[in-house]
Amino acid sequence: MKRIGVLTGGGDAPGLNAVIRAVVKTAYGEYGSEVLGIKDGFDGLLDQHGVEPLSPESVRGILPRGGTILGAANRGNPFARKVIRNGGEAIVDVSDVVVERIHELELDTLIVVGGDGTLRITQELFEKGCPVVGIPKTIDNDVGGTDVTFGFDTALNIATEAIDRLHTTAEAHHRVMVLELMGRDAGFIALHAGLAGGADVILIPEIPFRFDRICEKVTERADAGRHFSIVAAAEGAYPVGGQQVFARAGDEITTARLGGICQVVGNHVAEDTGTETRVTVLGHLQRGGSPSAFDRWLATRYGAAAVRLAAEHKYGRMVSLRSTSMTDVSLKEALAKPKRVNLEGDAVLTARGLGICLGD
Ligand code: F6P
Repeated sequence: MKRIGVLTGGGDAPGLNAVIRAVVKTAYGEYGSEVLGIKDGFDGLLDQHGVEPLSPESVRGILPRGGTILGAANRGNPFARKVIRNGGEAIVDVSDVVVERIHELELDTLIVVGGDGTLRITQELFEKGCPVVGIPKTIDNDVGGTDVTFGFDTALNIATEAIDRLHTTAEAHHRVMVLELMGRDAGFIALHAGLAGGADVILIPEIPFRFDRICEKVTERADAGRHFSIVAAAEGAYPVGGQQVFARAGDEITTARLGGICQVVGNHVAEDTGTETRVTVLGHLQRGGSPSAFDRWLATRYGAAAVRLAAEHKYGRMVSLRSTSMTDVSLKEALAKPKRVNLEGDAVLTARGLGICLGD
C-alpha cells in the first residue's frame, strides 16, 4: 500500500480530526504508506489545488480539535453538481472526473469519512471500480450497519448540559422550556439526552406526538406541585396527522433544513395550559467544539481500522462498532436501511417506565 487518500464529507462532527490523525499515524507507522488529504469533501478531487500531503508532523495536536483540518462540503456530490452553463444553472454528473483523479493520484485506497449521504456517494464510486473504504460519522447516529457513529456522544453531552441548564431557570420561573435538538429523521439525540437530562417530555420523529398529551403531562406536573417542565424535542418530530417543520426547502443539490417544530409545540403548550413557555434551539452548538473522550476513542479506532481494511484490500466496506468490537460491513448493507430509534428497544421502554411523556 503506497498511498492512500482521506476526505471528510457532509456536515462536520466532533472527532473528524481524531480520525484523520489516526489514519495518518497508522498508515505511516504501520504500513509505511503516504497519505494525501483531500480538501472540502469530494470537491478536492475536482480541484488541482484540492490535495495536500499529510504527515505525522502535520496532524500533531489535532486530536482534541473540533471541525476538520480538511474542510467539509455538504453540497459536493460529484454525481449531481450544480454548474453554470450557457448562463443558466445545470446539474451535471462529474463522477468520471473524480474516478480519473483517484487513478491519477495513484491512490491505493480512498478513505471517506461521512454520514449516509457521503457514504452513498462512496458506494456509487465503488460501483465504478474505485478502491474505497468508509468511516461512519454523524451526530445524528442514523447510519445503519454500526451501533454508533462518532460525533454522537459529544452532541449528546452538549444536549444534556443544555437540559441541565434549562432545568434551573425553568424551575426558578415556573416555566415550560422546550428544547429543539438536531438529528434529522432520527430521534437518538433527543431520546438519549432527554433521558440523561431528566426531561419530562421527549418528542422524536419515530413517534408522532399529540399536543394534548404534552399539555396533560405539563398540567399533571403542575397539579403535583411541580410548576415547570422540560420538553426535549428532535427537530424532525411531528404531530399525528401533521408534517415535519422546515426552516428552508431543499432542491436537487441541497437537502431541506428542518427547524421550527419547537416553536409550534411551545405556542400550543402556552395557549392550552396557560403556562409561560420558552423555546431554545440548540442548533450547531451540538456539532462544534472538542470531541468527548468517547468520540476521540471511537474516531481513533475507526481511523486505524479503516487503514487496516485498506491494507487488506477490503474495498466497498465501512468500519463498524458492534458492541465493543471493531468490525466491518459492506457499504451496501450499511446503507440498505437508515438507523432509527427502536420503539421496542430499551431506551424507549426505559423512558416509558420512568413516566416520561413520549407524546403518544
Ligand atoms: O446531519 C447532521 C446535522 O447536524 C443534522 O442533525 C441537521 O439537521 C443538519 O445536519 C444541519 O445541516 P446544516 O449544517 O446544513 O445546517
